[in-house]
Amino acid sequence: MLSIVLAVLIITWHKQVKCQDKIPGHFKLAGRSGVPAMHAALLPDGNVIFLDKIEDYTEMWLPDHRLAYSSIYEPKPEVDYRLTPVPVYSNAFCCGGAYLADGTLMTMGGNGPLTWLDDTVTDGFDALRYLYTQEKHKIWQEHQGIRMSSKRWYPSVQTLSDGRVFIAAGSLNGLDIRNNSNNNPTYELLDKDGKPQGESMPMEILVKNQPY
Ligand SMILES: *[C@@H]1O[C@H](CO)[C@@H](O)[C@H](O)[C@H]1NC(C)=O
Repeated sequence: MLSIVLAVLIITWHKQVKCQDKIPGHFKLAGRSGVPAMHAALLPDGNVIFLDKIEDYTEMWLPDHRLAYSSIYEPKPEVDYRLTPVPVYSNAFCCGGAYLADGTLMTMGGNGPLTWLDDTVTDGFDALRYLYTQEKHKIWQEHQGIRMSSKRWYPSVQTLSDGRVFIAAGSLNGLDIRNNSNNNPTYELLDKDGKPQGESMPMEILVKNQPY
C-alpha cells in the first residue's frame, strides 16, 4: 500500500516538474519603485503605490528635502512612467491595509518613530492613514486625534460587505511575541468612511491563538 502511495506521489511530483518546463510568462524590469517596496497596491486609476518603513535605503526625496517612504508609479508611456514621492507622517512599518468601498486606500498601524534616522516621522502604532489627493498630489493623510483605539504592529484588516472595516490583532509594541502582555488579541471597527467606531474588543479566537 505504502509503495502505491509513494508511486502516486512520485508520478504527481514528476508531473509538476514537467508542468514547470512550460514557462507561463516572465517578469520584465519596468522601472524602479524609488522606495523599498515593503507594500505595493494597485489603485483604482491604474497607478501603483509603494509604501515603506522609515529607513535610509530610499532613493527619493520629498520636495521639502525629507526622505520619501512612499511613491506612486504610473505605468503609462504618455507620462513617461512617472514616479512621484508621497509624504508619510508616521512610521508604516508592518501596517495593515484595506480599500474603503469608494476605492480609497487606507493603511493602519505600524511601528514607533526612529528619531535617530528621521525625526520628522512620528509614531505609527495606532495610525490611520488615508491615501487622498490634495492639489493633484497623493498624500497619506492622517487626521488629528483620529486613531485606532489601540496600538497594532502587524494587524490584519478586512473590508466587510457593509463597507465597515474590521481590524484585528497585532502587537502592542513589536516586542517579544512569547510574552502575551505585548500582544493585542482584540478587534475594532471603522465605519464605511474609515473613521473609528468604538473600542477594541477582546476576541476569544485571538486570545487562544496568541501570538497574533
Ligand atoms: C512582559 O511584557 C510586559 C509588557 O511589555 C513587561 O512589563 C513584562 O516585564 C514582561 N515580562 C517578562 C517575563 O518578560
